Amino acid sequence: MRAGHLLGLAPLALTALACDSCYGPQNNVVLTRNVRRMQPDAENATVLPRGPLEWGQINFLHTTDTHGWLEGHIKEQNYGADWGDFVSFTKHMKKKAKDMDVDLLLVDTGDLHDGAGLSDATSPDGAFSNPVFENIDYDLLTIGNHELYVSEVSYETFNGFAKVYGDRYLTSNVEILNPATGKFESLGAKYRYFTTEHGLRIMSFGVIFDFTGNSNASRITKAKDMVKQPWFLSAVNFTEPIDLFVLLGHNPPRTTAPTSTWGTIYSTIRKMRPDVPIQVFGGHTHVRDFVVYDTLGTGLESGRYCESLGWLSMSGINSTAFTGTQKPHGVPHPTTKPIAVNTTASANISGAATQDYGLKFSRRYLDWNRLTFTYHAAGSQKRAFDTPAGLRTTGEISAMRQQLNLTGLYGCAPQTYCQYCKPFGDPGNIYTLLTDALAATVVNQSRADVPRLVSTNTGSVRFDLAKGPFTYDDSFIVSPFINKFYYIPDVPYKFASQMLDLLNSGPYQKRDALTGTPEYGAMPKRDSCVDPPITHNHLESRSYPGGKLLRRQELTPGYTTTDDFGTNGDDTIHSVIPYYDVPIDFQANASFPTDGSEPETVDYVFTDFMLKFVLSAFQQLGANYTTSDVTYYMPQSFSTQTYLPEYAKTHWHKNMPNCPVGAGIGFSN
Ligand SMILES: *[C@@H]1O[C@H](CO)[C@@H](O)[C@H](O)[C@H]1NC(C)=O
Ligand SMILES: *[C@@H]1O[C@H](CO)[C@@H](O)[C@H](O)[C@H]1NC(C)=O
Ligand SMILES: *[C@@H]1O[C@H](CO)[C@@H](O)[C@H](O)[C@H]1NC(C)=O
Ligand SMILES: *[C@@H]1O[C@H](CO)[C@@H](O)[C@H](O)[C@H]1NC(C)=O
Ligand SMILES: *[C@@H]1O[C@H](CO)[C@@H](O)[C@H](O)[C@H]1NC(C)=O
Ligand SMILES: *[C@@H]1O[C@H](CO)[C@@H](O)[C@H](O)[C@H]1NC(C)=O
Ligand SMILES: *[C@@H]1O[C@H](CO)[C@@H](O)[C@H](O)[C@H]1NC(C)=O
Ligand SMILES: *[C@@H]1O[C@H](CO)[C@@H](O)[C@H](O)[C@H]1NC(C)=O
Ligand SMILES: *[C@@H]1O[C@H](CO)[C@@H](O)[C@H](O)[C@H]1NC(C)=O
Ligand SMILES: *[C@@H]1O[C@H](CO)[C@@H](O)[C@H](O)[C@H]1NC(C)=O
Ligand SMILES: [Zn+2]
Repeated sequence: MRAGHLLGLAPLALTALACDSCYGPQNNVVLTRNVRRMQPDAENATVLPRGPLEWGQINFLHTTDTHGWLEGHIKEQNYGADWGDFVSFTKHMKKKAKDMDVDLLLVDTGDLHDGAGLSDATSPDGAFSNPVFENIDYDLLTIGNHELYVSEVSYETFNGFAKVYGDRYLTSNVEILNPATGKFESLGAKYRYFTTEHGLRIMSFGVIFDFTGNSNASRITKAKDMVKQPWFLSAVNFTEPIDLFVLLGHNPPRTTAPTSTWGTIYSTIRKMRPDVPIQVFGGHTHVRDFVVYDTLGTGLESGRYCESLGWLSMSGINSTAFTGTQKPHGVPHPTTKPIAVNTTASANISGAATQDYGLKFSRRYLDWNRLTFTYHAAGSQKRAFDTPAGLRTTGEISAMRQQLNLTGLYGCAPQTYCQYCKPFGDPGNIYTLLTDALAATVVNQSRADVPRLVSTNTGSVRFDLAKGPFTYDDSFIVSPFINKFYYIPDVPYKFASQMLDLLNSGPYQKRDALTGTPEYGAMPKRDSCVDPPITHNHLESRSYPGGKLLRRQELTPGYTTTDDFGTNGDDTIHSVIPYYDVPIDFQANASFPTDGSEPETVDYVFTDFMLKFVLSAFQQLGANYTTSDVTYYMPQSFSTQTYLPEYAKTHWHKNMPNCPVGAGIGFSN
């Protein structure tokens, strides 16, 4: 609350407006051609959704961790839709909701950059992609940690993005140093109290996990402190009626996740409001997940990278002000009560509601493709699926891709290389490829003949590499990180040869990956382990037991999710993509003696992210190196983002420029 006076807030309570005309500002990018649909080079999905969505009294579409993927996944059939298709889709779904006399809210939980060229090839990140994103008239949004690493990006978010969405952009525990006043102030709104089109009165917050890697432009209040702040207690204990709390946060809904702070927030609200439903929308861990907190509340996480679109619907909310219907006509309804699960295992809420209040929920994870969107939008389309705003957005994206040279081709990736779907060491595993690429490209010409080991961390890779054109865009997709290459010259091989095993047995880098805290020296623009690695745990690797297919069709590889409601959450039924773990670090070698003998000494090359760990591992071996022994092995413009492009330029000429494309990750090549 900016005014610091609670009563001053009531007049701010707004009604969500029907908004057909406000699909974002016009962009100043000139269209180079008239694009019909999706991005012209994207693939089509082949498998239909399992059936119609269940619509309740209030419904939500949820995006999270989009990380700049607004062009869609050009080389993967499952996720080929672009942001323009999503613009058209949401327009139809809003219309559908209106026709059925129910509410539909659009929500996003942050992390808009670092992952794809459209967001990362500009300075600052997001200069082009944010205006594209803003074509969606979201009802509620919140900030992610990737908006807070770099001050420039935080200020762009504060001055641009936050102003576009106004009181709908929620940053309950994030403040920014306003250069105009020299004081820290709330970056967006601390909370929003509003009434939906059909009269539901909602109190909403946006709470990021206890992130500490932010630049000094911002300040983050820990959840345990925030829940004691007077503004928060007054908002929970609001003077106007609250029918439903909608909590957003770049914060994993599963309270047992190491970074999640929902347990603290949910328990605090539940204690003060024992009988008000609470719906959580979370993010950050990049998974599809759904958690039951108690009989009055659940939480949804909707994946990552424009692969997934989350659907949540509920009915059974009592409100004297509600003017819509609990059971919209002509569609299925939510049927599952949030009671039949082991909440001890999933949520651990103190003071959890246990009585059956009759609330019913449905959740669904939609694959991000045209087939999905047109299927679920059907019925509300007068003529075509594409809306003028959707087509305009698609055209803007195409024009930006040209302007940023994202389609600039380095070579043709001859097959798909994945991080986890093939065992480490397999030719189809990306680290096998990257080992070759490190050996071939990380060469200091003045020491080219000196034997060397080149180490980096597997966390420096963000995404798989799909068969087909390997472009400037793909260089951001595979590794948005720009870590540089250091080395220690002439290290006795008896020490250097033990380093990989030692680093991989050390807990330190994993620990950093979980907290997202860069703890040493000069911080690179982006550190390599900002998000925890995707937890391909048991939750995501089970097959779908017995779903009904709409028609006989072959399953394709994709998400197979298990959550607190079971195994029927995936909208398109897929076969399982196998998951194999990878070590913390991997290593290449080059210029070793050709006769197979061991060198006396080697150059030990590693990326800057590893400095602290490397020095302490050497220390453990009795080699007391310090930072003064460390210098750059490569020019500083050469980074984890540039070595694979270098390799592609020299090794992947075959089929240029018309590279054959595959179907996507997990499909056979
Ligand atoms: C996808 O489908 C559309 C129309 O249904 C078609 O025009 C387009 O060529 C297809 N794309 C590919 C890559 O097959
Ligand atoms: C924030 O950090 C920058 C760069 O490290 C420094 O120049 C600046 O003085 C710091 N600002 C404050 C308010 O501490
Ligand atoms: C909530 O408001 C009531 C009166 O409206 C007051 O008695 C109570 O102390 C408040 N509780 C908190 C935690 O602020
Ligand atoms: C619930 O989960 C907890 C923690 O995982 C476990 O100890 C307990 O046995 C489970 N209870 C039931 C009824 O499954
Ligand atoms: C549940 O919360 C209690 C107290 O907050 C804590 O001691 C316990 O470890 C938690 N259990 C799980 C499974 O997280
Ligand atoms: C709504 O009211 C009915 C009738 O009083 C009650 O049984 C039900 O539990 C209430 N539901 C909620 C969500 O409070
Ligand atoms: C675009 O990218 C390609 C591939 O890297 C490069 O050859 C070309 O020079 C680039 N064009 C511009 C205008 O930057
Ligand atoms: C050098 O790299 C090759 C290819 O990755 C590998 O097979 C070999 O075991 C490595 N040798 C040493 C000494 O690390
Ligand atoms: C390295 O330092 C440790 C203690 O800090 C010391 O015991 C050891 O002798 C040193 N080793 C060398 C090779 O200097
Ligand atoms: C190559 O190594 C030498 C010796 O350490 C160093 O002076 C030089 O700067 C390095 N070259 C590059 C391009 O970094
Ligand atoms: Zn993220």
